[in-house]
Amino acid sequence: MEIRILKEADMQAVMTMKEAIQADKEALKLYSEGKTDIPLRSNIDVEAFEGQNLYMPGLAGSAAGIKIVSVYPNNIQKGITSVPATMVMLNEETGEVSALMDGTYLTRLRTGAVVGAATDLLANKEASVFALFGTGGQAQHQLEAILTVRPIKEVRVFDIDQERASEFAQKMMDLFAEKFDVKIVAVASPKEAVKDADIITTVTTAKTPVFDSEDLKKGVHINGVGSYTPEMQELPAEIFAKAGKIYLDTEDGVLNESGDLINPLKEGIIQKEDITGELGQLVAAKTAGRQSEDELTIFKTTGSAVLDIVVGKAIYKKAIEINKGQVIEM
Ligand SMILES: NC(=O)c1ccc[n+]([C@@H]2O[C@H](COP(=O)([O-])OP(=O)(O)OC[C@H]3O[C@@H](n4cnc5c(N)ncnc54)[C@H](O)[C@@H]3O)[C@@H](O)[C@H]2O)c1
Repeated sequence: MEIRILKEADMQAVMTMKEAIQADKEALKLYSEGKTDIPLRSNIDVEAFEGQNLYMPGLAGSAAGIKIVSVYPNNIQKGITSVPATMVMLNEETGEVSALMDGTYLTRLRTGAVVGAATDLLANKEASVFALFGTGGQAQHQLEAILTVRPIKEVRVFDIDQERASEFAQKMMDLFAEKFDVKIVAVASPKEAVKDADIITTVTTAKTPVFDSEDLKKGVHINGVGSYTPEMQELPAEIFAKAGKIYLDTEDGVLNESGDLINPLKEGIIQKEDITGELGQLVAAKTAGRQSEDELTIFKTTGSAVLDIVVGKAIYKKAIEINKGQVIEM
């Protein structure tokens, strides 16, 4: 059996953001058409080392794989990441392991890409101002995805850690200013960030809304990425009542896990029928997209193994074509 090992640099060399966005669209379409088998994540506590192992398996079409993410807070003292992650892909015909890839990079890429997919399908075409909340590990790919799908001229980043936001803005200018002809600045308040913004992405660990719904421009498209437990909420509940379209990556994931949707539903601000559907249905043109320039649209993602598997498969296929990575015999 041959196993291809793909590190972050190999993965970067084989897959662009644009290609990842396309793969995520296909993944969510397969999911919404019922052509996937995505069991619940298995979480196993490892008490002796105060750790937890999370196993995220699945099948999408005929592509199979599992992402293993561990959460070991004590790793910090050992000088290694506290959240190591690896993607394991299986050979579709034989079930043998065919590839191991950097799961941290895969998560960043597929999460940026799914938001790029939603923004491509829902935001106003001439969107030029983008507000990004949160400048942690996921932020760079969130930014790259929006720059890839819309002609953004100005990006405003806000983080409660202002120093981190300033450093991030500078680093992103160095990385993207030339390629995308964009100005990226750190701002001092959420109000400054969202004023006149055409697109907003929240990718924070916040437990309370990160901006005020009163400050929004008409026709804004909003992506919620950070909240994945009922206690976490980034988006003000009232925006859901104002929204013309509300799309989710997976209904199952978002409605069971995210405070962004659980709270407005519990408070009666919206009913389940107000949710337009899953993004995969929009990809398949089974549901409607934006109806006017003034419509407020929302996309909420909590992530799914289907994204890891379909993007993982696309990376693996391209890596074979251009011979990237290291192949080991087992
Ligand atoms: N939807 C998905 O598929 C998906 C995938 C990966 C991660 N996530 C989630 O996205 C979130 C961000 O991930 P990360 O790896 O970038 O985290 P991180 O901890 O590296 O960074 C989070 C950033 O948010 C900032 N922040 C916290 N509260 C804020 C607020 N009110 N306003 C502005 N900034 C604020 C923090 O200062 C920090 O810089 C996490 O909750 C993570 O679990 C979601």
